[in-house]
Amino acid sequence: MSGVPSVEPLPQGVVTLADHEQHAVKRLDANALAYFAGGAADELTLRSNRAAWDAIQLSPRVLRNLVGGHTRTTLFGFTLAHPILLAPVAFQRMAHRDGEMATAYAAGMQGAGLVLSSQSSVLLEHVAQAVLPERQRGPLWFQLYFQHDRGFTEQLVRRAESAGYEALVVTIDAPSSGVRDRERRAGFKLPPGISAVNLAGLPPPKPVMLDEHQSRMFDALMTVAPTWKDIEWLRSLTRLPIVLKGIMHPGDAQLAAQHGADGIIVSNHGGRTLDTLPATAAVLPRIRVAMGPEFPILVDGGIRRGTDVFKAIALGADAVLIGRPYVFGLANAGAMGVSHVLRLLRDELEIAMALCGCATLADINADALFS
Ligand code: FNR
Ligand code: LAC
Repeated sequence: MSGVPSVEPLPQGVVTLADHEQHAVKRLDANALAYFAGGAADELTLRSNRAAWDAIQLSPRVLRNLVGGHTRTTLFGFTLAHPILLAPVAFQRMAHRDGEMATAYAAGMQGAGLVLSSQSSVLLEHVAQAVLPERQRGPLWFQLYFQHDRGFTEQLVRRAESAGYEALVVTIDAPSSGVRDRERRAGFKLPPGISAVNLAGLPPPKPVMLDEHQSRMFDALMTVAPTWKDIEWLRSLTRLPIVLKGIMHPGDAQLAAQHGADGIIVSNHGGRTLDTLPATAAVLPRIRVAMGPEFPILVDGGIRRGTDVFKAIALGADAVLIGRPYVFGLANAGAMGVSHVLRLLRDELEIAMALCGCATLADINADALFS
Protein backbone atom coordinates (compact mmCIF):
# COMPACT_ATOMS: atom_id res chain seq x y z
CA MET A 1 0.00 0.00 0.00
CA SER A 2 1.05 3.61 -0.31
CA GLY A 3 -0.58 6.99 0.29
CA VAL A 4 -1.19 8.91 3.48
CA PRO A 5 -2.25 6.71 6.39
CA SER A 6 -5.52 7.25 8.18
CA VAL A 7 -5.70 9.42 11.31
CA GLU A 8 -7.14 7.49 14.22
CA PRO A 9 -7.96 8.46 17.79
CA LEU A 10 -5.77 7.14 20.57
CA PRO A 11 -7.49 4.71 22.93
CA GLN A 12 -8.57 6.32 26.17
CA GLY A 13 -6.48 5.91 29.29
CA VAL A 14 -3.36 4.80 27.43
CA VAL A 15 -0.52 6.86 28.91
CA THR A 16 2.47 4.49 28.95
CA LEU A 17 4.09 1.98 26.61
CA ALA A 18 2.85 -0.78 28.92
CA ASP A 19 -0.71 0.56 28.51
CA HIS A 20 -0.25 0.37 24.74
CA GLU A 21 0.84 -3.24 25.08
CA GLN A 22 -2.11 -4.18 27.28
CA HIS A 23 -4.52 -2.55 24.87
CA ALA A 24 -2.91 -4.10 21.77
CA VAL A 25 -2.91 -7.59 23.22
CA LYS A 26 -6.72 -7.40 23.20
CA ARG A 27 -6.90 -6.13 19.63
CA LEU A 28 -4.44 -8.39 17.82
CA ASP A 29 -5.58 -11.84 16.74
CA ALA A 30 -3.83 -14.89 18.23
CA ASN A 31 -1.72 -15.42 15.10
CA ALA A 32 -0.32 -11.86 15.00
CA LEU A 33 0.08 -11.72 18.77
CA ALA A 34 2.20 -14.89 18.83
CA TYR A 35 4.46 -13.35 16.19
CA PHE A 36 4.79 -9.82 17.60
CA ALA A 37 4.85 -10.49 21.33
CA GLY A 38 6.60 -13.85 21.47
CA GLY A 39 10.21 -14.68 22.22
CA ALA A 40 12.30 -17.80 21.73
CA ALA A 41 11.79 -20.97 23.77
CA ASP A 42 11.09 -20.26 27.46
CA GLU A 43 11.31 -16.49 26.87
CA LEU A 44 13.93 -16.13 29.60
CA THR A 45 15.90 -13.58 27.57
CA LEU A 46 12.72 -11.74 26.67
CA ARG A 47 12.04 -11.31 30.39
CA SER A 48 15.68 -10.65 31.32
CA ASN A 49 15.86 -7.70 28.95
CA ARG A 50 13.10 -5.93 30.87
CA ALA A 51 14.17 -7.03 34.32
CA ALA A 52 17.70 -5.73 33.79
CA TRP A 53 16.57 -2.16 33.05
CA ASP A 54 14.19 -2.32 36.01
CA ALA A 55 16.98 -3.42 38.34
CA ILE A 56 19.10 -0.33 37.67
CA GLN A 57 18.47 2.67 39.89
CA LEU A 58 19.24 6.31 39.27
CA SER A 59 21.26 8.72 41.32
CA PRO A 60 19.85 12.21 40.86
CA ARG A 61 21.69 15.53 41.16
CA VAL A 62 19.80 18.67 42.08
CA LEU A 63 19.90 22.44 41.72
CA ARG A 64 21.96 22.46 38.54
CA ASN A 65 21.18 25.00 35.86
CA LEU A 66 19.68 23.03 32.98
CA VAL A 67 18.49 25.90 30.77
CA GLY A 68 19.06 25.18 27.08
CA GLY A 69 19.24 21.43 27.62
CA HIS A 70 18.24 19.12 24.78
CA THR A 71 18.22 15.47 23.69
CA ARG A 72 20.04 15.96 20.38
CA THR A 73 22.80 13.66 19.26
CA THR A 74 24.75 12.84 16.10
CA LEU A 75 25.19 9.49 14.35
CA PHE A 76 27.26 9.10 11.18
CA GLY A 77 27.06 12.84 10.58
CA PHE A 78 23.26 13.03 10.95
CA THR A 79 21.81 15.11 13.78
CA LEU A 80 18.93 13.41 15.57
CA ALA A 81 16.43 15.32 17.71
CA HIS A 82 16.55 12.48 20.23
CA PRO A 83 18.27 9.10 20.57
CA ILE A 84 15.23 6.83 20.06
CA LEU A 85 15.04 4.86 16.81
CA LEU A 86 12.46 2.41 15.53
CA ALA A 87 13.99 -1.07 15.28
CA PRO A 88 13.41 -3.19 12.19
CA VAL A 89 10.25 -5.25 12.64
CA ALA A 90 9.00 -7.46 9.83
CA PHE A 91 5.44 -7.70 8.44
CA GLN A 92 3.88 -4.67 10.13
CA ARG A 93 0.73 -4.89 8.01
CA MET A 94 -0.21 -7.75 10.34
CA ALA A 95 -0.56 -5.16 13.10
CA HIS A 96 -2.41 -2.52 11.07
CA ARG A 97 -3.53 -2.17 7.44
CA ASP A 98 -1.22 0.85 6.95
CA GLY A 99 1.74 -1.18 8.22
CA GLU A 100 5.17 0.34 7.65
CA MET A 101 3.64 3.40 5.91
CA ALA A 102 2.08 4.45 9.21
CA THR A 103 5.35 3.81 11.01
CA ALA A 104 7.16 5.90 8.40
CA TYR A 105 4.86 8.90 8.89
CA ALA A 106 5.12 8.67 12.65
CA ALA A 107 8.92 8.49 12.51
CA GLY A 108 8.92 11.54 10.24
CA MET A 109 6.61 13.49 12.55
CA GLN A 110 8.56 12.58 15.67
CA GLY A 111 12.07 12.99 14.28
CA ALA A 112 12.80 9.35 15.03
CA GLY A 113 15.31 7.28 13.12
CA LEU A 114 13.64 4.47 11.21
CA VAL A 115 15.26 1.13 10.42
CA LEU A 116 13.17 -0.66 7.81
CA SER A 117 13.21 -4.47 7.89
CA SER A 118 14.34 -6.45 4.84
CA GLN A 119 11.11 -8.32 5.46
CA SER A 120 8.83 -5.29 5.51
CA SER A 121 5.32 -5.77 4.16
CA VAL A 122 5.52 -2.44 2.26
CA LEU A 123 8.11 -1.79 -0.44
CA LEU A 124 11.29 -0.12 0.76
CA GLU A 125 10.90 2.51 -1.99
CA HIS A 126 7.42 3.52 -0.76
CA VAL A 127 8.63 3.88 2.81
CA ALA A 128 11.55 6.07 1.70
CA GLN A 129 9.20 8.30 -0.30
CA ALA A 130 7.11 8.85 2.84
CA VAL A 131 10.04 9.62 5.15
CA LEU A 132 12.54 11.60 3.09
CA PRO A 133 10.42 14.73 2.43
CA GLU A 134 9.67 15.23 6.15
CA ARG A 135 11.63 18.22 7.41
CA GLN A 136 11.86 17.02 11.00
CA ARG A 137 12.73 13.45 10.10
CA GLY A 138 15.44 11.32 11.68
CA PRO A 139 17.84 9.06 9.79
CA LEU A 140 16.46 6.41 7.45
CA TRP A 141 18.31 3.10 7.53
CA PHE A 142 17.72 -0.23 5.79
CA GLN A 143 18.08 -3.49 7.66
CA LEU A 144 19.74 -6.08 5.47
CA TYR A 145 19.46 -9.80 5.84
CA PHE A 146 22.03 -11.57 3.66
CA GLN A 147 20.02 -13.69 1.24
CA HIS A 148 21.27 -17.08 0.11
CA ASP A 149 21.68 -15.50 -3.33
CA ARG A 150 24.45 -12.88 -2.98
CA GLY A 151 23.52 -11.35 -6.36
CA PHE A 152 20.03 -10.68 -4.99
CA THR A 153 21.59 -9.34 -1.78
CA GLU A 154 23.62 -6.88 -3.85
CA GLN A 155 20.48 -5.80 -5.71
CA LEU A 156 18.80 -5.11 -2.37
CA VAL A 157 21.75 -2.92 -1.37
CA ARG A 158 21.52 -1.01 -4.65
CA ARG A 159 17.78 -0.52 -4.23
CA ALA A 160 18.28 0.80 -0.70
CA GLU A 161 21.00 3.17 -1.89
CA SER A 162 18.98 4.54 -4.78
CA ALA A 163 15.85 4.92 -2.64
CA GLY A 164 17.83 7.19 -0.29
CA TYR A 165 18.56 4.99 2.72
CA GLU A 166 21.44 6.42 4.74
CA ALA A 167 22.95 3.34 6.40
CA LEU A 168 22.74 -0.44 6.23
CA VAL A 169 21.94 -2.32 9.40
CA VAL A 170 23.12 -5.88 8.87
CA THR A 171 21.43 -8.29 11.24
CA ILE A 172 23.83 -11.11 12.02
CA ASP A 173 22.24 -12.90 14.98
CA ALA A 174 19.60 -14.85 13.09
CA PRO A 175 21.21 -17.07 10.43
CA SER A 176 18.66 -19.59 11.67
CA SER A 177 15.41 -18.58 13.30
CA GLY A 178 15.02 -19.30 16.97
CA VAL A 179 12.87 -21.90 18.67
CA ARG A 180 9.56 -20.09 18.48
CA ASP A 181 7.27 -22.12 20.67
CA ARG A 182 4.55 -19.48 20.90
CA GLU A 183 4.34 -19.29 17.11
CA ARG A 184 4.28 -23.05 16.75
CA ARG A 185 1.52 -23.41 19.33
CA ALA A 186 -0.53 -20.75 17.54
CA GLY A 187 0.16 -22.40 14.17
CA PHE A 188 1.51 -19.05 13.00
CA LYS A 189 1.27 -18.20 9.32
CA LEU A 190 1.36 -15.01 7.31
CA PRO A 191 -2.17 -13.92 6.44
CA PRO A 192 -3.07 -13.79 2.73
CA GLY A 193 -1.88 -10.61 1.05
CA ILE A 194 1.00 -10.01 3.49
CA SER A 195 4.49 -10.98 2.39
CA ALA A 196 8.13 -9.88 2.32
CA VAL A 197 7.54 -7.70 -0.73
CA ASN A 198 11.17 -6.53 -1.03
CA LEU A 199 12.24 -10.12 -1.54
CA ALA A 200 9.84 -10.87 -4.41
CA GLY A 201 11.81 -12.45 -7.23
CA LEU A 202 14.40 -14.03 -4.94
CA PRO A 203 15.38 -17.26 -6.69
CA PRO A 204 14.63 -20.29 -4.50
CA PRO A 205 17.66 -21.88 -2.81
CA LYS A 206 19.24 -24.69 -4.76
CA PRO A 207 17.89 -27.97 -3.41
CA VAL A 208 20.54 -29.77 -1.37
CA MET A 209 20.50 -33.55 -1.25
CA LEU A 210 21.56 -34.57 2.24
CA ASP A 211 22.65 -38.04 3.15
CA GLU A 212 21.65 -39.58 6.44
CA HIS A 213 24.85 -38.42 8.17
CA GLN A 214 24.38 -34.79 7.23
CA SER A 215 22.48 -32.10 9.04
CA ARG A 216 20.03 -29.65 7.51
CA MET A 217 21.55 -26.97 9.74
CA PHE A 218 25.27 -27.46 9.07
CA ASP A 219 25.27 -28.97 5.60
CA ALA A 220 22.49 -26.88 4.08
CA LEU A 221 21.54 -23.68 5.94
CA MET A 222 25.08 -22.88 7.11
CA THR A 223 26.47 -23.17 3.58
CA VAL A 224 24.61 -19.98 2.68
CA ALA A 225 24.86 -18.19 6.04
CA PRO A 226 27.08 -15.07 6.04
CA THR A 227 30.50 -14.97 7.69
CA TRP A 228 32.97 -12.16 8.41
CA LYS A 229 34.13 -12.47 4.79
CA ASP A 230 30.68 -11.36 3.64
CA ILE A 231 30.94 -8.26 5.82
CA GLU A 232 34.17 -7.41 4.02
CA TRP A 233 32.43 -8.06 0.69
CA LEU A 234 29.60 -5.72 1.70
CA ARG A 235 32.12 -3.13 2.84
CA SER A 236 33.72 -3.22 -0.62
CA LEU A 237 30.30 -2.88 -2.24
CA THR A 238 28.89 0.25 -0.63
CA ARG A 239 29.90 3.59 0.83
CA LEU A 240 26.93 3.66 3.19
CA PRO A 241 27.73 3.30 6.89
CA ILE A 242 27.41 -0.33 7.96
CA VAL A 243 25.97 -1.13 11.39
CA LEU A 244 26.05 -4.73 12.63
CA LYS A 245 22.95 -5.63 14.64
CA GLY A 246 22.98 -8.50 17.10
CA ILE A 247 26.39 -8.18 18.75
CA MET A 248 26.48 -9.62 22.29
CA HIS A 249 30.20 -10.30 22.82
CA PRO A 250 33.05 -7.77 23.17
CA GLY A 251 35.20 -9.94 20.89
CA ASP A 252 32.60 -9.75 18.11
CA ALA A 253 32.29 -6.00 18.62
CA GLN A 254 36.02 -5.71 17.94
CA LEU A 255 35.81 -8.01 14.91
CA ALA A 256 32.96 -5.86 13.59
CA ALA A 257 35.17 -2.76 13.68
CA GLN A 258 38.09 -4.70 12.14
CA HIS A 259 35.89 -5.84 9.24
CA GLY A 260 34.80 -2.32 8.42
CA ALA A 261 31.59 -1.82 10.40
CA ASP A 262 30.95 1.80 11.35
CA GLY A 263 28.82 0.94 14.36
CA ILE A 264 27.07 -1.88 16.17
CA ILE A 265 23.76 -2.59 17.82
CA VAL A 266 24.01 -4.55 21.04
CA SER A 267 20.95 -6.74 20.67
CA ASN A 268 19.65 -10.21 21.39
CA HIS A 269 16.88 -9.70 18.84
CA GLY A 270 14.39 -8.89 21.57
CA GLY A 271 14.80 -12.41 22.98
CA ARG A 272 13.55 -13.96 19.72
CA THR A 273 16.59 -15.92 18.56
CA LEU A 274 18.66 -17.77 21.16
CA ASP A 275 17.02 -18.06 24.57
CA THR A 276 19.01 -17.78 27.83
CA LEU A 277 21.25 -15.00 26.51
CA PRO A 278 21.93 -12.27 29.05
CA ALA A 279 20.04 -8.99 28.95
CA THR A 280 21.46 -6.34 26.64
CA ALA A 281 21.73 -3.97 29.62
CA ALA A 282 24.11 -6.48 31.22
CA VAL A 283 26.50 -6.78 28.27
CA LEU A 284 26.42 -3.19 27.04
CA PRO A 285 28.96 -1.80 29.59
CA ARG A 286 31.63 -4.38 28.77
CA ILE A 287 31.17 -3.84 25.04
CA ARG A 288 31.58 -0.09 25.55
CA VAL A 289 34.78 -0.72 27.51
CA ALA A 290 36.12 -2.97 24.72
CA MET A 291 35.36 -0.41 22.01
CA GLY A 292 36.51 2.80 23.70
CA PRO A 293 34.47 5.99 23.99
CA GLU A 294 34.09 6.95 20.31
CA PHE A 295 32.80 3.87 18.46
CA PRO A 296 29.03 4.19 17.78
CA ILE A 297 27.06 1.70 19.87
CA LEU A 298 23.29 1.39 19.93
CA VAL A 299 21.27 -0.99 22.08
CA ASP A 300 17.79 -2.52 22.04
CA GLY A 301 15.71 -5.00 23.98
CA GLY A 302 13.11 -4.26 26.63
CA ILE A 303 13.28 -0.47 26.51
CA ARG A 304 9.86 0.68 27.68
CA ARG A 305 10.44 3.89 29.68
CA GLY A 306 12.33 7.14 29.30
CA THR A 307 14.34 6.06 32.32
CA ASP A 308 15.40 2.95 30.36
CA VAL A 309 16.67 5.18 27.55
CA PHE A 310 18.51 7.26 30.13
CA LYS A 311 20.06 4.14 31.70
CA ALA A 312 21.18 2.87 28.28
CA ILE A 313 22.98 6.16 27.61
CA ALA A 314 24.52 6.04 31.09
CA LEU A 315 25.85 2.52 30.35
CA GLY A 316 27.53 3.71 27.18
CA ALA A 317 24.98 3.61 24.36
CA ASP A 318 24.79 6.48 21.87
CA ALA A 319 21.18 5.70 21.03
CA VAL A 320 18.49 3.07 21.55
CA LEU A 321 15.92 1.26 19.45
CA ILE A 322 12.47 0.05 20.35
CA GLY A 323 10.69 -2.85 18.65
CA ARG A 324 7.47 -4.25 20.08
CA PRO A 325 6.26 -1.04 21.79
CA TYR A 326 5.73 0.83 18.55
CA VAL A 327 4.12 -2.18 16.90
CA PHE A 328 1.60 -2.18 19.75
CA GLY A 329 1.07 1.55 19.19
CA LEU A 330 0.58 0.80 15.49
CA ALA A 331 -2.01 -1.88 16.28
CA ASN A 332 -3.88 0.53 18.56
CA ALA A 333 -4.04 3.64 16.39
CA GLY A 334 -1.92 3.39 13.27
CA ALA A 335 0.46 6.30 12.67
CA MET A 336 -1.02 8.15 15.67
CA GLY A 337 -0.25 5.22 17.93
CA VAL A 338 3.38 4.96 16.82
CA SER A 339 3.76 8.70 17.15
CA HIS A 340 2.28 8.59 20.65
CA VAL A 341 4.69 5.87 21.76
CA LEU A 342 7.63 7.95 20.56
CA ARG A 343 6.31 11.14 22.16
CA LEU A 344 5.80 9.37 25.50
CA LEU A 345 9.37 8.04 25.53
CA ARG A 346 10.85 11.39 24.52
CA ASP A 347 8.92 13.22 27.23
CA GLU A 348 9.88 10.64 29.84
CA LEU A 349 13.54 10.87 28.78
CA GLU A 350 13.50 14.66 29.19
CA ILE A 351 11.93 14.31 32.64
CA ALA A 352 14.58 11.77 33.69
CA MET A 353 17.33 14.07 32.42
CA ALA A 354 15.95 17.12 34.18
CA LEU A 355 15.47 15.25 37.47
CA CYS A 356 18.96 13.74 37.30
CA GLY A 357 20.56 17.09 36.56
CA CYS A 358 21.64 16.25 33.00
CA ALA A 359 21.14 18.96 30.38
CA THR A 360 22.43 16.91 27.44
CA LEU A 361 23.01 13.27 26.59
CA ALA A 362 26.74 13.91 27.00
CA ASP A 363 26.09 14.71 30.68
CA ILE A 364 24.61 11.25 31.27
CA ASN A 365 27.23 8.80 32.52
CA ALA A 366 27.72 6.06 35.09
CA ASP A 367 27.68 8.73 37.79
CA ALA A 368 23.93 8.99 37.25
CA LEU A 369 23.49 5.33 38.22
CA PHE A 370 23.17 4.26 41.84
CA SER A 371 25.71 1.59 42.68
C1 FNR B 1 11.95 -8.16 15.23
N1 FNR B 1 13.29 -7.89 15.09
C2 FNR B 1 13.85 -7.86 13.83
N2 FNR B 1 15.15 -7.55 13.68
C3 FNR B 1 15.70 -7.47 12.45
O1 FNR B 1 16.88 -7.18 12.33
N3 FNR B 1 14.93 -7.71 11.34
C4 FNR B 1 13.62 -8.02 11.41
O2 FNR B 1 12.94 -8.20 10.40
C5 FNR B 1 13.05 -8.14 12.71
N4 FNR B 1 11.75 -8.51 12.85
C6 FNR B 1 11.19 -8.51 14.09
C7 FNR B 1 9.84 -8.81 14.22
C8 FNR B 1 9.25 -8.72 15.48
C9 FNR B 1 7.78 -9.01 15.62
C10 FNR B 1 9.99 -8.32 16.61
C11 FNR B 1 9.35 -8.18 17.96
C12 FNR B 1 11.32 -8.06 16.47
C13 FNR B 1 14.10 -7.51 16.28
C14 FNR B 1 13.99 -6.01 16.54
O3 FNR B 1 14.64 -5.28 15.55
C15 FNR B 1 14.60 -5.60 17.89
O4 FNR B 1 15.91 -6.11 17.99
C16 FNR B 1 13.79 -6.05 19.11
O5 FNR B 1 12.41 -6.02 18.83
C17 FNR B 1 14.11 -5.16 20.31
O6 FNR B 1 13.46 -5.58 21.44
P1 FNR B 1 12.06 -4.99 21.98
O7 FNR B 1 12.13 -3.47 21.95
O8 FNR B 1 10.98 -5.53 21.09
O9 FNR B 1 12.00 -5.51 23.37
C1 LAC C 1 11.95 -11.94 13.39
C2 LAC C 1 12.80 -11.89 12.15
C3 LAC C 1 12.06 -11.45 10.95
O1 LAC C 1 12.45 -11.61 14.47
O2 LAC C 1 13.90 -11.09 12.34
O3 LAC C 1 10.78 -12.36 13.28
